[in-house]
Amino acid sequence: MTGPQLSRRGLFTGGAAALGGAVAGGAVVTALRPEPAPAPPPAPDLVDFGQAIEPFHGARQAGVETVPQAHAAFVAFTLRPGTDRAALGRMMRLLSDDAARLTRGEAPLADTEAELAVVPARLTVTFGFGPGLYAAAGLPSPVAALPAFPQIDRLEERWNGGDLLIQICADDSITVAHAQRMLIKDSRPFATVRWVQRGFRRSAGTEASVRTQRNLLGQLDGTANPAPGTASFGTAVWREDGSTQLVVRRIRAELESWDLLGRADKENAVGRKLDSGAPLTGVTELDEPDFARLDATGFPVMPDFAHVTRARQTDDRLKIVRRPYNYDDAPAADGTADCGLIFASYQADIVRQYLPIQRRLAEKDLLNEWITPIGSAVFSVPPGAAEGGWVGQGVLA
Ligand code: HEM
Repeated sequence: MTGPQLSRRGLFTGGAAALGGAVAGGAVVTALRPEPAPAPPPAPDLVDFGQAIEPFHGARQAGVETVPQAHAAFVAFTLRPGTDRAALGRMMRLLSDDAARLTRGEAPLADTEAELAVVPARLTVTFGFGPGLYAAAGLPSPVAALPAFPQIDRLEERWNGGDLLIQICADDSITVAHAQRMLIKDSRPFATVRWVQRGFRRSAGTEASVRTQRNLLGQLDGTANPAPGTASFGTAVWREDGSTQLVVRRIRAELESWDLLGRADKENAVGRKLDSGAPLTGVTELDEPDFARLDATGFPVMPDFAHVTRARQTDDRLKIVRRPYNYDDAPAADGTADCGLIFASYQADIVRQYLPIQRRLAEKDLLNEWITPIGSAVFSVPPGAAEGGWVGQGVLA
């Protein structure tokens, strides 16, 4: 990005001037100012989390309302031709059985590295069915691929779609890698790997358990999410039968140009402060934003086109729950970062809840300048399995 574009951006936000003269003479100057040293996060509770277990069986699948673990692998598959409803049933029986064992810290029957299975570290394995799986089973699909958002999308085929998704999360990365290997082995007769997206949040034990994570743009991410275990979460996410719907978008962060911005411009783009995560009208992270408040120059303190202003949704039936992970792949030879968010959002109904928010953001969102969707996939997440049952039984049996 060039200087003039930056200056237009700064002027566009309006509030930037009020927040300490971020834009002067066509150049962003706050980037050059020394920033106060950030405060360290609250001390962690020191616990031995290696043996912590998240139950696999239940009316709803784990890995959705589960407090996010530190590491994740999202593995999408393409079904092999001829994988019909009966074959899908065999596949899901096998996958469910091995996933249940792994989450208990037990090795699957055909495990050749059984020692790797003994640290479950809150492992969850969550299965999602894409439109192609329903087609292969001869069933109508509850989900359809998202429409194109030409204003923002730069989708690459290698990150799109998927007939089956296995979301594997744990507080230990070896546990994730081993579960991934075991479950891919199970799927081989039925499906091929389409894409794998690996992501991370802060490691367990590095700070007190919190709902919000730092993404690689430096922001606190997850503040406005309905909290796990609340009625609000239930209304937003779960359907009556215990299923939910998942959107996975791979969104690149344009860190090189983001780094050129001053702090005030970064905060204006989102509408929240970088240190505390508080709205620009508030003091602490959980303060409600005041969208009506004006600054001395008559501009809204929460800019009209800030990410939070555009994404806001107060009705639980229309909210989404974001459960994203950071990714950080090898930079280009010139050092340009290849990082961003594996944006994963759960909602009872993608069309009712996700699409209106995504449309508003695609139309106008200051953050769009520094984020680029490069992959997109949707899945129905069927209800959980009872002990002795398998995930997808109600759909495929
Ligand atoms: C790389 C991409 C993205 C980044 C870095 C990002 C970052 C953020 C941040 C920092 C916040 C404020 C804190 C919070 O409540 O979590 C936020 C809020 C939010 N974001 Fe995003 N976001 C991204 C993509 C998206 C997408 C694709 C959607 C949905 C289509 C979305 C929907 C929301 C919603 C609903 C909120 C809460 C708004 C409210 O306060 O009610 N975000 N995001």
